Amino acid sequence: MISLGICGGHDANWCVFKDGKLLGAFEKERFSRIRHDSGNVMDYVEKTLRKLGISPNEIDVIMTTEANFKGTDPGLEYVSKKVYDEPNEWVEMKVKFYGREIPCFSVPHHLSHASYAFYTSNEEESVTLTWDGGGDFYTTNAYTSTSISYWENNKLKWFKKIGNCDIGSLWHIYSKSIFQNPFAAGKLMGLAALGENKFVETFADYCMRPVRGCLNPAKAIKNCWPDEDMPMFSTVNSWRHKDAADIAYAIQKVTNYAGINLAKKAYEVTKAKTLCLGGGVALNGYLNTELAKLKIFDRVFVPPSVHDGGLSLGAVMFILNNVLNLKTCKISDQDLVFNGTEYNDEECIGAIQKYGVKAEPLNRFSIIQRTAEEISNGKVIAWYEGKSEHGPRALGHRSLLADPRYPKIKERLNNEIKFREPFRPIAPVVLEKDVHYCTRDIEYSPFMMHIVETTDEFRDENPAAVHLDGTARIQTVAGNSGIGEIIEYMKENTGGKALLNTSFNCNEPIVETPENAIKTFLEVPIDYLCLNGKFWIKKE
Ligand SMILES: [Fe+2]
Repeated sequence: MISLGICGGHDANWCVFKDGKLLGAFEKERFSRIRHDSGNVMDYVEKTLRKLGISPNEIDVIMTTEANFKGTDPGLEYVSKKVYDEPNEWVEMKVKFYGREIPCFSVPHHLSHASYAFYTSNEEESVTLTWDGGGDFYTTNAYTSTSISYWENNKLKWFKKIGNCDIGSLWHIYSKSIFQNPFAAGKLMGLAALGENKFVETFADYCMRPVRGCLNPAKAIKNCWPDEDMPMFSTVNSWRHKDAADIAYAIQKVTNYAGINLAKKAYEVTKAKTLCLGGGVALNGYLNTELAKLKIFDRVFVPPSVHDGGLSLGAVMFILNNVLNLKTCKISDQDLVFNGTEYNDEECIGAIQKYGVKAEPLNRFSIIQRTAEEISNGKVIAWYEGKSEHGPRALGHRSLLADPRYPKIKERLNNEIKFREPFRPIAPVVLEKDVHYCTRDIEYSPFMMHIVETTDEFRDENPAAVHLDGTARIQTVAGNSGIGEIIEYMKENTGGKALLNTSFNCNEPIVETPENAIKTFLEVPIDYLCLNGKFWIKKE
């Protein structure tokens, strides 16, 4: 049976499962080249299906998340359409897909977030917390921006919304006022490192309140959404303002308090061994590390696409496991991330010819050797190979790589290549076996979802990888992955034990196709491009 998951809200996305196995997951922004793009995705769906060797006529069932909300329809043609009343209530409808009438299940927003977090953990039992910004308006009587659910024997046992709790809206509001962009929570998190404890109490008084529902009386962040146009400190409209960093610092602190309160109460209520996290707030690496350090759960799992870009996967996995009784397959960390489109050598050669660049084909050993040596010489390499990443982070298939031992290289990446704010940190990658070289806070971080305190040794040796508060958003990799092989070579031959990894893009979504890669490479001062882990292209 082939299932198509599809979601048209911001970060519109779709995915394909065959007999419970994930074949591919995609986000519209990578193809349309518009960040966080929403709406109709049908043209792109057909192209990616065909690339997987599947005809649209082979789709048996569709799962969606936001079919019931105006403006977020992915472009489905409904034969029958129903609305759900509660956040744990899925509905079955009928759609017309390429001329055939087929079943379509719609799954509420937070249930999809929770399902994605739980099923990608490969656990049989877990409690799940989902938290995002602004909430879910897609049910008729149940506004939800935070939820708790319990999963047992691979199925949903119960799901409850948490009232009077909206951590993400605080980030949304202040991202919008300080950066003029509601999606700039990552920048605000980076700015928090520059701040001091000046407004923490002010923010705690303003927004910390007991939640309603089964986690009461845990205090978290009330719904601040209606204040969007008139937040406290509304005159602070630039990150350069003297109070901006202290505001960001306070928002991070109250977020940590709120998240820890909710997690402790969730453990008290469920006694679960594993906590899975979903929703956009789960991108907060500081909070994720605090939750891991609490050690009340044996495992805190944060998958890579916790934002709305993972909703279609959650919807499919919920319906397959809970409604159709078809168990989805366990999934490795690698397969969870690298499940976008792969472009073959012919497509790469076509792009090379189109842009008239000179490319030297090299074998695997030579390309690893040359990349590691040039990185160690202080060069910036665009590394492009295999299937594109799903989720907001480039994790080694569409990455810009550099050597963090060069103190000035962060400025070069931020100012000359990415054209972004100078305070923005750049993440380090270390081998899994060397995690303690970088930090003692966590053991494993394959999806770059933790911001950790770095060790003295790491700070001394890798100044460009350490943020102003001594932290780093660490990624751990296996030695046999592409960037793992580069680090192994550096360790043996040039002395480096870490890489800098930032997404391969410049004011656009992460590059998707070989053409996107060459175009971006030519536009900004990147020294070399390694295309498909094979073609070595030097800047003329
Ligand atoms: Fe969400």
